[in-house]
Amino acid sequence: MPGNAALQQAFDSCSALLTQYKAYWQLVPFACQQLPWDNPALAEKLLSLPEQQLAAIDQSPLLQQQHFTAFFDDLFKLDSYLTPADNGLPASELKPVPFWLANGIGGRKLQQIDAFARRLPASTLPMLEWCAGKGHLGRLLAWQLQRPVTSIEWQQQLCADGSALASQFQIPQRFVHADVLTAEGSAVLAPQQQVLALHACGQLHIKLLQQAVATGCQQLNIVPCCYHLIPDEHYQPLSTLGQQHDLVLSQHDLKLAVQGQVTAGARIEKLRHTEVQWRLAYQALRADLTGETDYRPLSSVAKHWFSGDFAEFGRWAAEQHQLPLPAVPDWQHYLQQGAAHAALVRRIELVRHLFRRPLELWLMLDRALFLEQYGYQVTLAAFCDYQVTPRNLLLQAERH
Ligand SMILES: C[S@@+](CC[C@H](N)C(=O)[O-])C[C@H]1O[C@@H](n2cnc3c(N)ncnc32)[C@H](O)[C@@H]1O
Repeated sequence: MPGNAALQQAFDSCSALLTQYKAYWQLVPFACQQLPWDNPALAEKLLSLPEQQLAAIDQSPLLQQQHFTAFFDDLFKLDSYLTPADNGLPASELKPVPFWLANGIGGRKLQQIDAFARRLPASTLPMLEWCAGKGHLGRLLAWQLQRPVTSIEWQQQLCADGSALASQFQIPQRFVHADVLTAEGSAVLAPQQQVLALHACGQLHIKLLQQAVATGCQQLNIVPCCYHLIPDEHYQPLSTLGQQHDLVLSQHDLKLAVQGQVTAGARIEKLRHTEVQWRLAYQALRADLTGETDYRPLSSVAKHWFSGDFAEFGRWAAEQHQLPLPAVPDWQHYLQQGAAHAALVRRIELVRHLFRRPLELWLMLDRALFLEQYGYQVTLAAFCDYQVTPRNLLLQAERH
């Protein structure tokens, strides 16, 4: 099937699924006091799942499929629209990275960089690394491919650290310290370039797409992340087809696409559980005191709070909402209510999370179709295993 028709078909399938099952993902789980669907078979299934299995199912696309395929037809077939990951650089073109060059790069990041590098098409163009951080990707590639790279980054210190590493190893990497959202930032783009972006957040990669088509950059390799970090309250689709669909996505909806968690350590996992329980326990306290049962969010706080004392958290939360507290609230009672509510929320989230991949695919396909509109030939592939990073979708485009 020609690229264009395949991408459109994938986009239509994603749109249809997301629309059909809207009630299962377009919701705020914390605000639900009971399972929000009239689906007795699903309710029975969810209530039969032991608590200890929930996290494992949530983190494994395979287990999700095993448990829920019967309830959501076609949901698990969408990845078949991705291009198989086999048409990148031949391994011989990539020199193995020596340990001294990879020093200071975390294990997972190194695996991501390696997988990303293997998916690059052969090219002689200079490289441009968008939102580079310390420019680890650019530095390794410039060394492996013996081609110059320009790395643009907004944080002065990261530019300084990256420049120091590049000169220490005499690597042809130049840092530009600029905000990519400004005209000065976009000015680094040029038609004859191979553009690289690994984990560029919402508006940062959207800006790249818009400026790259305006500039006519030859070759793009983009791995987006944090789709919800956009200035507008609602997502503005980029492609014409996306604009024709009436899928209205709030920032809360968009966040779902990045809620995939690679297995965290037991300690972090426990803190996460405590956080949900405490937030819901406070919600129950507030409901009792005010009679208001609607959900009112609190700001996020550092994880270490949740190894402390619930009463202290409860007082902080009440202060946030300017809620006067009785002299001695029955903290224990509310903690129990929080625990029961958290068990319900975890089950609602288990179902909601089945839709994070379809939603992410929808967003990626919108980007892919946008590039096609501007004459690019586009592919969309998983460039590494989900366990290496859940943000493993790579958009590649070449202008002809
Ligand atoms: C998620 S990190 C990714 C860094 C690197 N590409 C990687 O994969 O490790 C995003 C980077 O974008 C940078 N950034 C954020 N806003 C930016 C802006 N407006 N202009 C340029 N860089 C920006 C951040 O400082 C951060 O280094």
